[in-house]
Amino acid sequence: MQDLVDRIAVVTGGARGIGASIAHALAGEGMSVVVADIDGEAAENTARSIGSTGRKALAVACDVGLFDSFQQLADRAWAEFGQVDVLVNNAGVAHPPAPAIEVTPDDARWVLETNVLGVWHGCATFLPRMIDQGTPAHVVNVASEHSLGVPMTGSAMYTASKHAILGLSDVMRRELPDHIGMSIVCPGSVMTEFVAAVRHRPSRFGGAGQTDRGRIDAGMSPDEVARRTVQGIRDNDFYIVTHPPVIELARERWTEIDHAFATQAPRFEGDDIYDTRELVRRRLAARQD
Ligand SMILES: NC(=O)c1ccc[n+]([C@@H]2O[C@H](COP(=O)([O-])OP(=O)(O)OC[C@H]3O[C@@H](n4cnc5c(N)ncnc54)[C@H](O)[C@@H]3O)[C@@H](O)[C@H]2O)c1
Repeated sequence: MQDLVDRIAVVTGGARGIGASIAHALAGEGMSVVVADIDGEAAENTARSIGSTGRKALAVACDVGLFDSFQQLADRAWAEFGQVDVLVNNAGVAHPPAPAIEVTPDDARWVLETNVLGVWHGCATFLPRMIDQGTPAHVVNVASEHSLGVPMTGSAMYTASKHAILGLSDVMRRELPDHIGMSIVCPGSVMTEFVAAVRHRPSRFGGAGQTDRGRIDAGMSPDEVARRTVQGIRDNDFYIVTHPPVIELARERWTEIDHAFATQAPRFEGDDIYDTRELVRRRLAARQD
């Protein structure tokens, strides 16, 4: 999507961190921005700061884990601006580091409902209206290096949620009409307050928790991730990648899969009877006859 000037963007988790940087970057491209966040006060501050640069910004309190809350966000955005051209599903959380079998059921649901259903809620509430608009539009789902590889111990549930965003987005992009683009952003470590996410845990998952962790003190600046995200929207890249070393982990995964097939299930003449795409094609063709 090339033309961003005077278009409208909605950024979830836009109050701080990567979301705030993306909101600022999109405003810098000439867009009006809706800053949506579970922390309504912080969203107001970010919207005010964008407003001071001369662009229009609206803060909306929204919990992406709740379908109705997202629906209200969409109603609000269309009521205020009459259209939405870019949706950035950025809000995401991680539970405090723990082996998978020690994560509490509340934390597991918190991470999966916020990170996975949060993205789906955004797509399911915004995309039908963006499709109806009939004009170029783009959805960005903020995933992670953990979508591509990087199996970091202590973060299994988070990793599962970020794999789910890749799977969801990879199928959805093929279901969308040509005028809608879709990207996933796959950053490594970014210097934000992400490690303190438990401070904003909703009451249905046990409420706000205490943590002595404040900011991630090493990694990329959120502004740099935002800069690359804007470029990815312009170039209609599906994978928006940022941290060069991640390629090694993605290759490591691919090499292991390649070896598994080479040794256990190598290709043979006529093996397309097991090709799922071919099976689906045949089933659809049989239905049409
Ligand atoms: N920081 C990193 O190292 C890193 C790396 C890769 C991916 N990411 C991803 O980037 C995204 C943004 O993370 P960040 O690092 O900017 O974190 P952050 O904690 O600084 O910002 C996240 C924002 O999301 C909001 N939020 C949390 N739950 C919400 C909910 N249910 N509804 C609406 N808003 C909610 C928070 O209030 C906060 O303002 C997340 O999806 C995260 O998984 C972060």
